[in-house]
Amino acid sequence: MMSIGIHDLSLATTHRVLDLDTLAEANGVDPAKYHIGLGQDRMSIPAADEDIVTMGAQAALPLLERHGAEGIRTILFATESGVDQSKSAGLFLHELLELPRTMRVVEFKQACYSATAALQSALGIVARNPRERVLVIASDVARYELDSSGEPTQGAGAAAMLVSADPALLAIEPISGVVSRDVDDFWRPNDSTTAVVDGRLSVTAYMDAMTSAWDDFAAAGGVGAEEIDRFCFHQPFTKLARKALARLSQHTGVELPDTLQEASFAYNRELGNSYTASLYAGLAALLDHDDDLAGRRIGLFSYGSGAVGEFFTGIVQPGYRQLRRAESIRDQLAGRVPLTLEEYRALHSAAHPSDVDWETPRVTEGPFRFAGIRDRARRYEATQTAPAGPTQE
Ligand code: CAA
Repeated sequence: MMSIGIHDLSLATTHRVLDLDTLAEANGVDPAKYHIGLGQDRMSIPAADEDIVTMGAQAALPLLERHGAEGIRTILFATESGVDQSKSAGLFLHELLELPRTMRVVEFKQACYSATAALQSALGIVARNPRERVLVIASDVARYELDSSGEPTQGAGAAAMLVSADPALLAIEPISGVVSRDVDDFWRPNDSTTAVVDGRLSVTAYMDAMTSAWDDFAAAGGVGAEEIDRFCFHQPFTKLARKALARLSQHTGVELPDTLQEASFAYNRELGNSYTASLYAGLAALLDHDDDLAGRRIGLFSYGSGAVGEFFTGIVQPGYRQLRRAESIRDQLAGRVPLTLEEYRALHSAAHPSDVDWETPRVTEGPFRFAGIRDRARRYEATQTAPAGPTQE
């Protein structure tokens, strides 16, 4: 059977960062609560001229530079921090990346889960026509109210995936376990820029979804836990993934030590929660830091509050190490400018009216920027020169 999956994967984040030590000091909290209790060190914060579009386009650019745009006829943009109620964020990205007009572009929403729905849809499109490739973008800014318990689990990041036949990174296996249930654990009303969350309920809803998705995976004929070599779970904070793997171990009766997922935490400890991108930032970290993955099976658990869960598997392809981007991700993370508490709070509270013209200050050093609002519409631009046109593989 033809294999279909992730041909390449790239990450991007913002150019500002808040160290959780700064937040701990301000909140009078022992920093160990954040570093050990939640398993988080820093969180990316968008500058005034950054958002899900600029991060998504920055993540996609290296894929186009490496593989070209040929065969891409679909962009699926997954986010739960959309910038418009009607227009897909993918259309701004499509323009910034100077992609051909012969494409369908659409936005997917179901909290942190929707990138997995986009990935599954992409697999279906490629199965129907293996000459096509699909660009899947997951990009989010996680925002909770200042001084809330969710505040240290904010963050921002984007993952871009090129989905194709005969993938070079991860061949996705056909069996998935899925679960959906209407639960008010976390949501964001239309008039709110921050999420409403019942933290405790969100954790139990995540665990319930994980075991239910696993049960459905097993019932659908999925492999046993002992046949899975590594795990990569949605990581709103990395400690939750540790708890989830322990729960799966208990649930299946198979010993699943934390070493099977440890490498997947490297980026998310630094990014904070990036909602839809979180699982795929975990996957990128695993592929970048584990040298013994060729031919191995990874089990992935995707969760989106509200709530939908999916457990699925993929086989790492032999040449995956040649496609790594660890250095560029390390540079991006290290190049972020630390915010003072006052700067962070000012950014968090900044108003973003859509009914008057305004321009953003030039802050980001990324390739694209959000320039402001003109005639009620969002305006984006390349920061220096326009991106080089896609090169062929
Ligand atoms: N040293 C070491 N550890 C410490 C510590 C210290 N000094 N002080 C506390 N801790 C530990 C606690 O023991 C606890 O660990 P355990 O859970 O293992 O016992 C951990 O730090 C956190 O402490 P609390 O439970 O007291 O933390 P909290 O109540 O202040 O906040 C939270 C936790 C409710 C999850 C909150 O961060 C939150 O609401 N986050 C947003 C919601 C979220 O991320 N939910 C996850 C599931 S939903 C989802 O997955 C979708 C999504 O992306 C949002």
